[in-house]
Amino acid sequence: MLRLQVPLPDHYTTMSAAELEQSIRAAKQTLGERLLILGHHYQRPEVFRWADASGDSFKLARFAADNQRATDIVFCGVHFMAESADVLTGDHQRVILPDLNAGCSMADMADIDQVEEAWEALAEVVDVERVVPITYMNSSAALKAFVGRAGGAVCTSSNARAILEWALARGEKVLFFPDQHLGRNTAYAMGYTSADERVWNPRQELGGLEDRDVKEATFLLWKGHCSVHQRFRPEHVRAARTEHPGVQVIVHPEVSHDVVALADKVGSTERILAWVEDAPSGAVLGIATEVHMVQRLAAEHPDKTIFTLDPLVCPCSTMFRIDEPHLAWVLDHLVRGEVVNRITVDAETSEWAKVALQRMLDIT
Ligand code: 13P
Ligand code: SF4
Repeated sequence: MLRLQVPLPDHYTTMSAAELEQSIRAAKQTLGERLLILGHHYQRPEVFRWADASGDSFKLARFAADNQRATDIVFCGVHFMAESADVLTGDHQRVILPDLNAGCSMADMADIDQVEEAWEALAEVVDVERVVPITYMNSSAALKAFVGRAGGAVCTSSNARAILEWALARGEKVLFFPDQHLGRNTAYAMGYTSADERVWNPRQELGGLEDRDVKEATFLLWKGHCSVHQRFRPEHVRAARTEHPGVQVIVHPEVSHDVVALADKVGSTERILAWVEDAPSGAVLGIATEVHMVQRLAAEHPDKTIFTLDPLVCPCSTMFRIDEPHLAWVLDHLVRGEVVNRITVDAETSEWAKVALQRMLDIT
């Protein structure tokens, strides 16, 4: 998807670190409680430090839904998170993404035309009244609206199991998009096996499946993935265990199942944070998730050995687009009463996306 971020005025790109810090601090002070800066765990440290609230995508969605006071919510994260915040906030609130090019390559792996085509193709083979569509939070508002209309819900990495249990109490099959790994890892944790799943390839007719496959599968898993998390391989876990006997291996559920199978703990970024905080002094923790988060945790817990399982650094390039110059730029506009980079979801999409998001909030 093409989104255009206008180039920043030179003033911002040439500011020193100290000038940027001063500018952001002053803008925050002026804006006071009108402003809420939300920061995802993957943000670079110089941005993360400005967040009024931080969390995984679920916690940040809750913050957005619960905060009525701030009129301007600056979302230091990626586009789908800002869209969800816009859906969940009131009409008096505006959501701003400091860099419009901060998307998510996984979210872009399923678009509304492909999902509608998949649904129509499924309807020719099975009764779609018995199929519950579930979209990962990492998806466009249009996909969330689709699942809202079709009786499904949104899930995040922290509540996928509860949402899938809910879905299978309502229907007999789940169409899960766009991350096959989160879908598979959650299904297996619930006791299902590879016999219960089929991968739906949106580029092929009927997802590349036979009618029989569609009828037999409990989980139809969209062929999507996170390019950051799929880098982690079982060899990384084995190497960590050889090099650090006693290491605790903690992974995000977007990694592939062969890595999950070797891990000690699997959870969302917020759970990873909690496990690190709860680990005793001297603990050795090898983590498979975005590297800025791992580095921050290592810096915050010098009494523990914390390292990324992938020795070749593994950043999320879109999260990394949010930097201090862009943050200073949007805040300066707000101080002048101007809004740049507002993220809005049209009324009809928003209405149905909210249904799907609210189901998630109500279930978990
Ligand atoms: P969390 O919900 O765990 O924060 O994950 C979001 C994400 O994009 C992970 O890649
Ligand atoms: Fe998307 Fe992966 Fe980046 Fe998360 S880490 S925002 S899933 S590209």
